[in-house]
Amino acid sequence: MVLSRRDVVLALCGGSCFYLFTALVTDSRLATNPLVFTSDTTSKPHSQGTIDLGLLPDLPETTVIAHAPGWTIFKDLYMSKGALLLLTSTPEAFPTFPLMTSTGLPGNLTNDAERQPTEKDMAFLSPEEARSRWGGRLELGERNRVLTLEGLTLLYNDPPQFLNHCKSSFDYFHFVAELIFGTWAFLYGAFADRHPPSATADASFTPPLISTSTPNIARAIYIHSDSDGWRDGPGFNGYAFRAVFPSTTVEVMTDWIDRVNATTNTIIERAWHFPLALLVDRSAAFRGPITGHYTQRTAAQAWMEMAKQGKIDLVGNWWASVRSALTRYAGGDPTEELGAELQMPESVVITYINRQGTRRHLREEDNLALLAAIQELVERKNREGGKLKWEFNDVHAERLSLDEQVRVASRTTIMLGVHGNGLTHLVLMKPNQLSAVVEIFLPEGFARDYEWTSRSLGMTHYSVWNDTIFAYPNEPPNPGYPEGFHGPMIPLYAPVVAKLIEDHVTARTLGPSNPNNSPLHDFYAKDML
Ligand SMILES: *[C@@H]1O[C@H](CO)[C@@H](O)[C@H](O)[C@H]1NC(C)=O
Ligand SMILES: *[C@@H]1O[C@H](CO)[C@@H](O)[C@H](O)[C@H]1NC(C)=O
Ligand SMILES: *[C@@H]1O[C@H](CO)[C@@H](O)[C@H](O)[C@H]1NC(C)=O
Repeated sequence: MVLSRRDVVLALCGGSCFYLFTALVTDSRLATNPLVFTSDTTSKPHSQGTIDLGLLPDLPETTVIAHAPGWTIFKDLYMSKGALLLLTSTPEAFPTFPLMTSTGLPGNLTNDAERQPTEKDMAFLSPEEARSRWGGRLELGERNRVLTLEGLTLLYNDPPQFLNHCKSSFDYFHFVAELIFGTWAFLYGAFADRHPPSATADASFTPPLISTSTPNIARAIYIHSDSDGWRDGPGFNGYAFRAVFPSTTVEVMTDWIDRVNATTNTIIERAWHFPLALLVDRSAAFRGPITGHYTQRTAAQAWMEMAKQGKIDLVGNWWASVRSALTRYAGGDPTEELGAELQMPESVVITYINRQGTRRHLREEDNLALLAAIQELVERKNREGGKLKWEFNDVHAERLSLDEQVRVASRTTIMLGVHGNGLTHLVLMKPNQLSAVVEIFLPEGFARDYEWTSRSLGMTHYSVWNDTIFAYPNEPPNPGYPEGFHGPMIPLYAPVVAKLIEDHVTARTLGPSNPNNSPLHDFYAKDML
């Protein structure tokens, strides 16, 4: 769907602009209590106009601004009695409900039927029904019983299972690299008005409209989560959310129940109105082909839809404002050169996310050999004195503050580590021609979490099984978690990793990066088979 420039500006500048496309604007006296049953037709528009549907004969109909399975941006969405209501005279124009929402139950392989949305979750409403349920008798001076939540609302329908997995740090990945990642891909794709059309068309590159500002998102509502449910053990989710969306208010399940109760525990029915809302639903994303059949990453549906439409680039410029917001917040250097092509950096910063202090880790002798091999490589390279300056960081995340972790990740060129949540920090790396993630698995094990995320940002991803290296298009076979995957005896033949890093940098500095490394190349091919 194509948005006009005006729509874009309206959406970006948030609540204070919405009065422009709202049919009725009242003075602040009415707006402070929209349920007061009086009308004042002489009132003048308030300069900070507030949306007030109280006196509107026809409530605005719901439209979909952008959609991918699990990710839907609505204009003029309604909620009453807990159900999201699509006010429309043309229901056939909407995606099917199971591709937009679910009951919000935690998912497993056998309960898809229980997660299929019912009319309690989402329903169509005709303009006549809306009028009869919420409409006031305007001719008698009554008001419609519809209250607006100004600005853009994020409606997160995920169960706490995925926002906070057993209070372990595991869910930093699900929160930042799935929920925030997909949210930003989708909002950026839907609302930014200038984009590099592709990774190769540098002549037409214009820096993204919203590259330097954090988005104006009024609120995020975690419909099924309590206030701990979206937070992780180490505290990264709260940290990242506040850094990236500093003015966004968080509401959780009890706040949602307040709102549901406001429409339920009353004799005369009321409704809430969302002028702009992004609805995110994990079960619905899994019903889409990219997430469900290939990546198992909910963000992949959002990213893919916008990448296919050419609305986000393939080298991570679209993510730059989130990345730099976090880096700035942590006291790091947020500057980066955005462009249609990846830049050649001045240094190679290798960061090893050392998991020896956690459950899933390398055999200790292999860990020591790895440290020695990388150290030797870095010293040798600096002795040889090439153009690039080499640096090695051995990072035990549990010993660093969150700020310190962000700062080192944002300077990293090559991130290395055993499969695990710490690799989520790769989203902070500024993609350049040398950027790579080297992920070590127990042989025969593989998961696409960091592989997909790295490649969607234009970075190379290598999987290592002891002495064997895999990279697209020759990736490990079927994803899986063999016995011992999460254990402390993961073998690694260290010389192979040091050589991989050296060969990778040598190859990249010799010529332009391999065009086949474009993540879209892979996803398109798989999608169209
Ligand atoms: C799947 O989830 C349902 C609840 O929706 C639960 O009753 C069932 O026990 C779960 N099955 C497994 C294998 O966890
Ligand atoms: C919402 O309404 C239900 C049913 O009347 C009631 O049990 C519950 O306490 C209310 N919750 C809140 C948060 O007001
Ligand atoms: C790891 O690779 C090395 C070098 O090929 C080999 O000697 C060793 O047996 C391998 N270890 C495992 C557990 O496969």
